[in-house]
Amino acid sequence: MKLNQKVALITGGAQGLGKAIALAMAREGASIVIADINAAVLPAVRAEIEAAGASCLGVSCDVSSVDSVAALFRKTVAAFGTLDILVNNAALVQSGPRNEAMRSRFYRMMTTPVPKESLGVTRDFPDEEWHKYWGVNVHGVFYCTREALRIMEPRKTGKIINIASIAGIGGFSAFHPAYCATKGAVLAFTRSVAIEVAGANIFVNAIAAGGVLTPPMESYLASLTEEGRNGIHQLIPLGRLGRPEEYASLAVYLASDDHYLVGQTISPNGGMIV
Ligand SMILES: NC(=O)c1ccc[n+]([C@@H]2O[C@H](COP(=O)([O-])OP(=O)(O)OC[C@H]3O[C@@H](n4cnc5c(N)ncnc54)[C@H](O)[C@@H]3O)[C@@H](O)[C@H]2O)c1
Repeated sequence: MKLNQKVALITGGAQGLGKAIALAMAREGASIVIADINAAVLPAVRAEIEAAGASCLGVSCDVSSVDSVAALFRKTVAAFGTLDILVNNAALVQSGPRNEAMRSRFYRMMTTPVPKESLGVTRDFPDEEWHKYWGVNVHGVFYCTREALRIMEPRKTGKIINIASIAGIGGFSAFHPAYCATKGAVLAFTRSVAIEVAGANIFVNAIAAGGVLTPPMESYLASLTEEGRNGIHQLIPLGRLGRPEEYASLAVYLASDDHYLVGQTISPNGGMIV
């Protein structure tokens, strides 16, 4: 097992990609902390992870709150004594009817003949939503990374994996400027911290995910006609979205001692960006 006796903390671990990563790391022998703002589902996810043979702690946490993050790391050390692996996965992703309508307008624009027109998103984008995305997607990554380094640097070992998106490197989420900007910021932060802490034998890397079949994406696809779903699949050379397990295996690899990767962005995306 690749992560035997390691302690891994996964933010946003209650569902979707975070849960798949938590389960994959549990199967590789790690003890798991899942931190999520959606506290109601934590006991059920914890039971699933324990059924996979791992010890697990579920912590209710809002990563955009510095106090909540400090408490999360205190609870992690109290339960398991240390931390070896941090996966910064929690994020606001574009879900709900308004975002789904914006996403559909974007895909229509991308798949219709010229002339095109502006989607008109940024000119009316609400301040509150902009700041909320930065609070969770960027400040949350910073708060958790800072706490993790306070544990990892004295021990001169650690792995940090930041879950970003192709939205941070290409135009495939241009209907949501805050999501794109925050995911780009995560990639720049990854490179900076990676070089800063490599000398302490801490490996920081990012996964710039393409489309993943997680609850927000599944609910969006279910709301479309077959023609609408085909339109999206046509934008992906592989012709389908990725399964959470196809990303989780990469997170396990980045958390293992089997590589020489520092500050890299690896993008599983079915060929959308090459
Ligand atoms: N699904 C995709 O197509 C896709 C594509 C590219 C990147 N990603 C990235 O993958 C990661 C996981 O996305 P997902 O699709 O599994 O989303 P998801 O919505 O299914 O899961 C996100 C989890 O984060 C939690 N969360 C949200 N705000 C939080 C906060 N303030 N504090 C703590 N937890 C919080 C949610 O409760 C949820 O459990 C995100 O970083 C996302 O940007 C997803």
